[in-house]
Amino acid sequence: MNNTELQKRDEAIAEISARLGVRAERGRRFAELTSLRVGGSIDWVISPQTEAEAAAVVHELEQAGVGWRALGSGSNVLADDGEHHYVVLALKDLKGEVRFEGDLVHVSAGYSLPRLCIDVARQGLSGIEGLGGIPGTVGGALWMNAGAYGHEIGTVTETVRVAREGRVVEVPGNTVQWNYRHTSFKDGELLLGGTLRLTPDDAGAIMARMEDAKSRRLATQPHGGRSAGCFFKNPPASSIGTGKMIDEMGMKGVRRGTALVSPVHANFIVTEGENARAEDALALAEEIRERVKREQGIELEYEVELWRANEPQQAESSDSAPAGSPDAVEKEST
Ligand code: EPU
Repeated sequence: MNNTELQKRDEAIAEISARLGVRAERGRRFAELTSLRVGGSIDWVISPQTEAEAAAVVHELEQAGVGWRALGSGSNVLADDGEHHYVVLALKDLKGEVRFEGDLVHVSAGYSLPRLCIDVARQGLSGIEGLGGIPGTVGGALWMNAGAYGHEIGTVTETVRVAREGRVVEVPGNTVQWNYRHTSFKDGELLLGGTLRLTPDDAGAIMARMEDAKSRRLATQPHGGRSAGCFFKNPPASSIGTGKMIDEMGMKGVRRGTALVSPVHANFIVTEGENARAEDALALAEEIRERVKREQGIELEYEVELWRANEPQQAESSDSAPAGSPDAVEKEST
């Protein structure tokens, strides 16, 4: 885009956000908005507060040909150091209130996943306590089918609310493919919230199982941020997990610039310092993939989402990548 085109696009974005009454900011960086604390500048960050507002915003952006991506808590995203010329739809303000209706719980995409796990446990509802303490938002968890310690969010999802043509549409959970850290939702689909069907049980017992999952996580994974959860998926055909594989190659603690393989869990890359670079994390990740390929013959798949500044966005080209994806949960899940 040349300067005149950019200016016209900026005017359109300013007009849409003003008309819909949605907060729009300039001058933010992915380094401030993701848990890895790396990544370059973002043209616009737009923060809708309700599901209807979010559906209207993406529709208007698409009508105006403006590319966008959805970001939750930024806990499963590695954005590169370039200038990202698209709109980041920040969903953290889209929290709403959790609403209980018998065994059902209705929740919006920006609601915190750890918070939801506590809310439902207190209510005496079981089914997601294994996810307790996993950083991230509900939208991110639904997008990637977050899982840990025997629980996966897709298993208990009754419906997902999705933005279509400017409206909020309910998609039945049983029409979604809930795969390992992957779903059939498509780039360009914005998840607005969901309804989970949980199972009544003793609140104390659910809490105890959640505390157990949290302490296992604390004992085996780095915490306190600056990671994006597990970096790679576990390979389907391998009997040993990715973390163990990288550990056995002696790579724990290996450092490349501002990024290192976590000394706690080898499938976590963590970053350090005020000026940490996505480039370092990416170079380290590629080095790991090459070694695993060479030594084990296995092609590791990324579990984190890589957001490239120079990829075409959804609204600009129909066969292109991204838009969509409320960042996912950390992962830990995340
Ligand atoms: N292990 C090592 N060295 C390491 C890491 C792990 O020897 O550096 C060993 C462990 O001791 C254990 C085995 O490998 O015997 C499996 O480790 P862990 O229980 O940590 O499970 P994982 O397969 O590494 C998966 C998920 C986690 C999730 C945990 C618990 C993936 C990629 N990872 O980790 O989710 O929290 O199980 O359910 O599926 C994520 O999705 O981001 C994530 C971290």
